[in-house]
Amino acid sequence: MDIRRLTDRLGGLAFGGDYNPEQWDAEVWKQDDELMRRARVNLATVGVFSWALMEPEEGRYEFGWLDAHLDRLHAGGVAVDLATPTASPPPWFTLAHPDALPVGPDGAHLTHGSRDTYCLAAPAYRRAARRIADALAERYGDHPALALWHVHNEYATLCWCDHAAAAFRVWLRARHGSLDALNEAWGTAFWSQRYTAWEQILPPRTSQWHRNPGQALDFSRFWSDETLAAYREQRDAIRAHSDHPVTTNLMLPGYQNLDLWAFGREVDLVAVDHYPTGPGIDAAADTAFGADRARSFGGGAPWLLMEQGTNTVYAGDRTLGKEPGEILRHSLGHIARGSEGALFFQWRQSRAGAEQWHSAMIPHAGPDSRTFREVTAAGEAVARLGELAGSTVRAEVAVLHDSDSWWAMKVDGLPSSELDYHAALRRAHRALWDAGRTVDFAHPEHDLSRYRLVVAPALFLLTDAGAENLRDYVAAGGTLLVQPFSGAVDERLHSRLGGYPAAPLREALGIRVEEYRPLRRDEEVTLSDGSTAVAWSESLRTEGAEALAAYTHGMLAGSPALTRHDFGVGHGWYLSTRLDDSGYAALIGRLLTEAGATPEGPGLPPGVEAVSRHAPDGRGWQVLLNHRAEAVPLPQPGHDLLTDGTVSELPPGGCAVLRAH
Ligand code: GLA
Repeated sequence: MDIRRLTDRLGGLAFGGDYNPEQWDAEVWKQDDELMRRARVNLATVGVFSWALMEPEEGRYEFGWLDAHLDRLHAGGVAVDLATPTASPPPWFTLAHPDALPVGPDGAHLTHGSRDTYCLAAPAYRRAARRIADALAERYGDHPALALWHVHNEYATLCWCDHAAAAFRVWLRARHGSLDALNEAWGTAFWSQRYTAWEQILPPRTSQWHRNPGQALDFSRFWSDETLAAYREQRDAIRAHSDHPVTTNLMLPGYQNLDLWAFGREVDLVAVDHYPTGPGIDAAADTAFGADRARSFGGGAPWLLMEQGTNTVYAGDRTLGKEPGEILRHSLGHIARGSEGALFFQWRQSRAGAEQWHSAMIPHAGPDSRTFREVTAAGEAVARLGELAGSTVRAEVAVLHDSDSWWAMKVDGLPSSELDYHAALRRAHRALWDAGRTVDFAHPEHDLSRYRLVVAPALFLLTDAGAENLRDYVAAGGTLLVQPFSGAVDERLHSRLGGYPAAPLREALGIRVEEYRPLRRDEEVTLSDGSTAVAWSESLRTEGAEALAAYTHGMLAGSPALTRHDFGVGHGWYLSTRLDDSGYAALIGRLLTEAGATPEGPGLPPGVEAVSRHAPDGRGWQVLLNHRAEAVPLPQPGHDLLTDGTVSELPPGGCAVLRAH
């Protein structure tokens, strides 16, 4: 589906957010109309949590109230991203179908009273979800306000109930074909776990000690596929009545219950929600991480930031506010990396209910507030960027991401609790971001030939095809960095025998790892080049590679920690430990130079972000974001779309969008 249709319809990039008018009355709706105009809102997501109003009792739909809102928004020039409300079933649903409530791994039955209280594998839930998607699409498929369909909200829930067990068995039969194959895959010869009938197989519920890792990994895969099937059912019900694009808002990066590559193939455009998990420069880096992931999952196509907070930074046990200027900078951080707009959760801050302290475009204080003034300024800025619609982003560097590896690194019984897939990915991305490079994420089996440098921070599970792909990438001239504990197991979680990592990768790296040796908590080791490392070490020998740094103490004294191998016309690097921050930054810097990956904004100091978007007709734009507290002169003045004038300097915290020559 051509997504230009959405931006053509909006007359440029999207700006707006979740609109939940059912919390307010007609007086407020009138103000909303006026304030949306002021803030240049052109897209509102409606209906996400409206199941109880849309279907007040089973099978009886009431859409009159929704007609009125859609008509009103349309009259005000606001297009609608219409959501199916299936992420929050009303109490009548769960009372009528108690078997559709989720059950935890420990057998605890959850109740209603929150949201997401359903098991996606429960037939009653699936029927109800399909039915309401169908009813909505039938009624609104051609509504003039409609611009986009939004299925569900942040698919991510898992369940261990008997419905899930039944669906899991069906999935397992399809994947393994026979019980013998399943027993072999899961290694049930050990601990007397052999299954002799499909009915004996359960979800990996709470048990005495380690759960079977193959069972746990397959359960993660199963849930991703089951969730995708649930999405497809709603999408197809919608498509039967409407030809507007259909998407679902994918969850912020820390959750990994879905194979986002697979979702990227099934949505008409990738849409994501993003809430930074640290303040200041960390929030900016986190924004880039989320945005680069979103773009990559859609294969580089334009995507959409469906939700962000105006004043929300999730920092552990508290929610921090954003600093002045960050609403615009974060919005542009996403747009720079290919988002076709910037949307928020939600338009008006709830005065009651579960998210009353979550920030919004209009805070409790009302429109006479810093937040609303910054929202309005951001709306004006986004409105000036219409010519960027449909343009895309190019990266010379990729970080490998694979949900199988992520899930596999969550199974019981791994050698160290300090093995953290997500942290390894973020760290690699951050080092590249700090070095001023734009990063794609890629799957280990993707065509990698367009990247000068590929970093594999946590490739624990690697298929033969993946290992061969990486070997061929290096042979053909690529530079590859593989980090510890990679290529250790195949897709069945079976260990690679005869030395790690998987043989084709060993060939490209010119090494053979004999033994993994996790370090003690708080233990630090020094390497021969003066850098220090923590958490992990490996006993390896070179088989053609050059050792660039070695361990200096203990059993591993003298054995290589960092290696480099000339293979074909490329270079395979292997790092067998976790370097300290400065050592890792230096290594990444060296790799970028060797690979010839050019910085996006040469001449700009650290803390000034530069990303370019390119149109197919050769036009281009450079988005510049100054995360520093002082003004920064530009290497070259340029025409800034935000001010429609020439800029030669970025003010503290300032932004510019320059037309490239
Ligand atoms: C998510 C959800 C929203 C809202 C926000 C803020 O992204 O999709 O419904 O709950 O978080 O917490």
